[in-house]
Amino acid sequence: MDRIKIIGGSKLIGSIPISGAKNAALPLMIASLLSEGTLTLKNIPHLADITLLSRILGDLGANITIDGRGSQGVDDEISGVTMHINVPKISNFFAKYELVSKMRAGFWVIGPLLARTGRAKVSLPGGCAIGTRPVDLHLKALQELGADIKLEDGYVNAAAPNGLKGARIKFPKVSVGATHNILMASTLASGQTIIENAAKEPEVVDLVRCLRAMGANIEGEGTSVINIEGVTQLNSAEHTVLPDRIEAGTYAMAVAMTGGSLTLMNVNGKNLQYPLNIMKAMGVECLEHSNNLHITQSNNNLKPIDIETNPYPGFPTDLQAQIMAMMTQADGLSRIRETIFENRFMHVQELARLGADITLDGDMAIIKGVTKLQGAQVMATDLRASVSLVIAALAAKGETIVNRVYHLDRGFEDIEKKLSRCGAIIERLTD
Ligand code: EPZ
Repeated sequence: MDRIKIIGGSKLIGSIPISGAKNAALPLMIASLLSEGTLTLKNIPHLADITLLSRILGDLGANITIDGRGSQGVDDEISGVTMHINVPKISNFFAKYELVSKMRAGFWVIGPLLARTGRAKVSLPGGCAIGTRPVDLHLKALQELGADIKLEDGYVNAAAPNGLKGARIKFPKVSVGATHNILMASTLASGQTIIENAAKEPEVVDLVRCLRAMGANIEGEGTSVINIEGVTQLNSAEHTVLPDRIEAGTYAMAVAMTGGSLTLMNVNGKNLQYPLNIMKAMGVECLEHSNNLHITQSNNNLKPIDIETNPYPGFPTDLQAQIMAMMTQADGLSRIRETIFENRFMHVQELARLGADITLDGDMAIIKGVTKLQGAQVMATDLRASVSLVIAALAAKGETIVNRVYHLDRGFEDIEKKLSRCGAIIERLTD
């Protein structure tokens, strides 16, 4: 199994092109199931989750072709690819356990399958081990759209033989995935659907833009109420995946820890406003200039701060582990309240191996800084936890080995290449 070796202590100086967002690319790829036409997606990152979803879609009847790297003109070596997905016919409405159990987003095929064919049998999902992660909101909303849902042997068996019918759906809590799923399903439902308490994440907005390019009739994305007027068919379209705000935030926090100066290229700073404001309050210089973000950390005195994770536009749970690593270098006590996932503190004990002083009290982590981090063997339990260990290791003295790198490969494209070209000493060890 691959591992990553890092010798900490080097400042990060240089520029990093930011990839297309994994969490936008996945629902965008799934949207291809809604149309007989071809969906062309530009700026798709090269990640294990994308490969896995391609296999799930392939099983359902998708033909997928990919143009070579470098087609974005940003950076020939490090840039996304263009993917063409064509699903002339759904050849199979069955998404199997072996694939869907590896990735939560795989479950989201259920909405589009039902909308297009009136049938879907999809395994209950898996994904990062960060909480119980039920799918009750998805299922209840699909029932409200008229689907008959049965749970059998770990599968959701859903049918809507007369098609889905528009409805008013009020989510009791904000769910990114349920918003994606119901948005896609309702584009082909008859009549109007209103989603209340919808997720406002930029990735939801990106999905709506793509669905609109395919011919869907949607209003209100980016607000908590989204209106969808069903249409009878969607068509071919082309769409560029938005930049990955979590990847950008991660590298910003890395340089805040190591010191130095990074230019993050191809970033939409607006989508990162909350975390950038927190970093500024901690003493990091963050400047936006067109599509670039310049992050500079010249004095090493970071200030402590208290934060809590929240749905967008609040502080993203997907940057919680990374800012926790950063807080180990702040001068005093910082606190994080995790409000989205009840079990998303698995990185705490691994950061402790590097010397971090963190105590847990229910949904709250209390981080005492400044600690001098020291390299060690560490192991990651999920994607964002892994990267928090990588950025902590960059600031630690000596050698760190990060085990279970496959988590990282699910969500961070070319991480060793991007960091080493900015002065980090980092390499992948393959056994
Ligand atoms: C998406 O997961 C992201 N995944 C996650 O990123 C991200 O952490 C999360 O949104 C929150 O921002 C993708 O986009 C592929 P939710 P999702 O439904 O959709 C509860 C990463 O590292 N809930 O918004 O699965 C749920 O348990 C990943 O890239 C229900 O109770 O998250 C959680 O407490 C990890 N019932 C809360 O809602 C449901 O039916 C928010 O989850 C659905 C969700």
